[in-house]
Amino acid sequence: MARSTRPMLPAVEIFIDSMRQVMASGVEEPECWVSCRTFLKKMIADPEVISHAQNWPVTGYNPDTDKVGNLLFYEDPDYGFVINALIKKPGGYAMIHDHGSAWTIYGILEGEERIVHYDASEENGNYVLAESHSELCGPGDVDIVRPWLIHSEFAQDKKSIAVIVRSQRSGTFQQFRYFEDGTKSEISGPEQIPYTLR
Ligand SMILES: [Fe+2]
Repeated sequence: MARSTRPMLPAVEIFIDSMRQVMASGVEEPECWVSCRTFLKKMIADPEVISHAQNWPVTGYNPDTDKVGNLLFYEDPDYGFVINALIKKPGGYAMIHDHGSAWTIYGILEGEERIVHYDASEENGNYVLAESHSELCGPGDVDIVRPWLIHSEFAQDKKSIAVIVRSQRSGTFQQFRYFEDGTKSEISGPEQIPYTLR
């Protein structure tokens, strides 16, 4: 069921129509997410979306829920993809985690984030993480996070705003957080905060 009030901003409606066409035409993974990346780049470059984003609330870690928050703009009723935003305060970061079986297309609308990917090997039942990729990303950069990729993001000295497309809503799939002591634990994903984009 769609969790949004429509119509939303025109650039967002165009994004949704484009994604639905790709899904309806049966384009498979990962190609459909490569197309999504192109559509998301356009959406986060749209002046109206950028202007609207100035009022989005910081959704970082909330000690009351022990979770970070994601604004939830849209959930597709037929194909299940969602549009979220994550706003980090200066210096804010995500714990090291994966997104389980979900695909995630992560676009920076404002500010900069260092995006780090990790490889995990297992030794004596513990995980040993090694950085496999680290990149400073800024406005307009869009990262494709494949299923099970272990990663983290670190906002720099200014607030960062990311618009995120997920193949399914957080909380509907199994995902894990990785700790420095080599253990991991299942997490239920960011709190989903419905937010109207219009
Ligand atoms: Fe993530």
